[in-house]
Amino acid sequence: MIVLGIETSCDETAAAIVTDAREIRADVVLSQIADHTPYGGVVPEVAARAHLEHLDGLIRRALDEAGVGLGDLDAVAATGGPGLIGGVIVGVMTAKAIAAARRLPFVAVNHLEGHALTARLTDDVAFPYLLLLVSGGHCQLLVVEGPGAYRRLGTTIDDAVGEAFDKTAKLIGLGYPGGPQVEKAAAEATNPGRFALPRPMLGRPGCDFSFSGLKAAVRRAVEERPKPLTPEDRADLAAAFQHAVADVMADRCKRAIRAFKAAHPQGGALVVAGGVAANKALRARLAGLADKEGMPFVAPPLRLCTDNAAMIAWAGIERLRLGQTDTLDFAPRPRWPLDPTAKPAIGRPDVGAGVKA
Ligand code: KG4
Ligand code: ZN
Repeated sequence: MIVLGIETSCDETAAAIVTDAREIRADVVLSQIADHTPYGGVVPEVAARAHLEHLDGLIRRALDEAGVGLGDLDAVAATGGPGLIGGVIVGVMTAKAIAAARRLPFVAVNHLEGHALTARLTDDVAFPYLLLLVSGGHCQLLVVEGPGAYRRLGTTIDDAVGEAFDKTAKLIGLGYPGGPQVEKAAAEATNPGRFALPRPMLGRPGCDFSFSGLKAAVRRAVEERPKPLTPEDRADLAAAFQHAVADVMADRCKRAIRAFKAAHPQGGALVVAGGVAANKALRARLAGLADKEGMPFVAPPLRLCTDNAAMIAWAGIERLRLGQTDTLDFAPRPRWPLDPTAKPAIGRPDVGAGVKA
């Protein structure tokens, strides 16, 4: 089975060709960073127009790199949500057009499921597994029981962790996107213990996260320093922030591991996915935790942690194997929780599952 995957839900336009033998035949990603940098963050309308402009060319490139034509495809999968709706529409319409013209099955993939199942593409991880999904819009702990079968153990009650990285970067005067810049600055810290930042939710029951207090503490620390911040200030603050995040992650994951083991005594892997999973300090911390807990640890290669279309093609393949396809009247979904039965996060009764969660 050869599947074309399309990803357009945020600020990366991507196309990939993946086979059911877990072979990535092509994986092209066009970052829109340059388009959004002047605004300090992603502008939805700018993103949608850039997807529209580049997607056809990227699909052509992916087909060429894979050495296949549209006639060789067995299906087309596109991110159907959640995400910035203008971009999602561009990807879904393109996928539907190809599917209609070539009479191919079409699969609308949940972007989060793309991240969630990546470890099966890269490492053939067996169900069930415990997943820490950490990206620009999400921060969740989930038990992955199968495609479409997720049980949420915890989520953020305010900001997503990637969002916290991005805001911290902005506060300390690093560029967008913030995560990689914070990681780079933190590596240059000479006195990482200089700033004492809080560890929100540490030791609390449950597996939920909170990052707004940490962000506020970074803002206060910045305000208290003489301006402009020195490179040492920036590096030490970045390191303090990253360390606080790692402490919180390890604490929340430890609790989730208890819940996972209780429900699945036969065991399973700890998997991390999503853009923030590209952070090496965090990966090392989680690897240490998994080791202590006697669990295999799986983190996809860095380029498959951040947004890409190989994960969308693969999630499409997993759905196709179960005989699940979508019709051409599928409507793009700005919100699409992995576990629709999960209770709204505490502190945000207005916000149901699937919104930043
Ligand atoms: O999964 P992703 O590419 O897009 C979403 O679906 O949100 O995640 C993007 C997020 C951004 O917030 C970015 O700052 C963060 O992942 N990120 C990182 C790193 N690389 C990307 N955060 C921390 N360390 C990194 N190395
Ligand atoms: Zn993503």
